[in-house]
Amino acid sequence: MADQAFVTLATNDSYARGALVLGKSLRNHHTSKTLVVLIGPQLSEPCQSALRRIYDDVILVNVMDSGDTAHLALMKRPDLGVTLTKLHCWTLTQYSKCVFMDADTLVLSNIDELFDREELSAAPDPGWPDCFNSGVFVFRPSVETYGKLLKFCTEKGSFDGGDQGVLNGFFSDWATADISKHLPFIYNLSSIAIYTYLPAFKQFGDNAKVVHFLGETKPWTYTFDPQTKQLCGGMQEAPTQPAFLLDWWTLYASAVVPMLQEQYGDKPFVSGCLESQESDTTVTTETVQQESSASHAPLEPERSSVQRKEQWEQGQADYMGMDSFDNIQKKLDTFLK
Ligand code: UDP
Ligand code: GLC
Ligand code: MN
Repeated sequence: MADQAFVTLATNDSYARGALVLGKSLRNHHTSKTLVVLIGPQLSEPCQSALRRIYDDVILVNVMDSGDTAHLALMKRPDLGVTLTKLHCWTLTQYSKCVFMDADTLVLSNIDELFDREELSAAPDPGWPDCFNSGVFVFRPSVETYGKLLKFCTEKGSFDGGDQGVLNGFFSDWATADISKHLPFIYNLSSIAIYTYLPAFKQFGDNAKVVHFLGETKPWTYTFDPQTKQLCGGMQEAPTQPAFLLDWWTLYASAVVPMLQEQYGDKPFVSGCLESQESDTTVTTETVQQESSASHAPLEPERSSVQRKEQWEQGQADYMGMDSFDNIQKKLDTFLK
């Protein structure tokens, strides 16, 4: 339907890569909706041209920044003040209903059914489930709501310094008023949830429809070898959702990099792809499959027995792995025998 749209935001070339992959993933799953990307003036011309090839509408907006360093510091994300720019999505009144998606999300199957929901529908935030996560939400563009949101921002500010704080303040009855506005978690499966509740992830993770690479490390901060299909290098930390990361990278390397290369022509272009392997920290599709029977399992770093003891004492036992019931029973059996 032409009057319904998926909307995302990219204020710089890094997030534009995310938006390109997101747009491509929506197209691959045959969405019937219009695709819209809001961009900031910083975006390079090649990135803008590539976005125009995937999105129906590329709309330039003013970047709004909360400048709220104190609250942003609490989240350890000084870069998120500009996410207030997201609020511009309410000005898209040429559409009757929209679904906003962060540029760091990836669609795994058709999600057009989200348009059956009403404003403001969203999934719980994994860090504080009485708040919704603003990485995926259903809304109705309206100049009136936009005005009220800006007024709310000026008068009350944002408790996290970004859009999620404002939106949760404004749509403050989300947690209690109407359960139909609670999207199932599979529409916004954040990477954090994978390691905070691994058994649930193993049980339900295969139903995921949207994965959200929430947090400081984004898929585009890694490097990838398209020949060997390996993710490597530049890792500050071991990735917790390598299979989803590989899904992101496979799409980026196969569909987005060639498009960007074409747009950049002779100009230097860093794709984040490697010519050859050059790092010790390597994640492969094979490693992932060996790690667990779940097809999208996190990588678990090796732990010494001292570390395991400490974690056990802090209530962080590896219930599904080394510290599983079966393993404990085997150990007890060896003592008893
Ligand atoms: N964003 C952007 N430029 C920035 C930071 C954020 O365009 O410099 C947009 C982008 O769509 C991004 C969203 O705002 O996905 C929210 O930020 P992010 O995903 O980094 O937050 P997180 O989900 O990690 O909390
Ligand atoms: C969150 C959301 C993100 C939002 C940010 C700032 O963690 O995932 O979409 O922009 O907080 O409020
Ligand atoms: Mn995000």
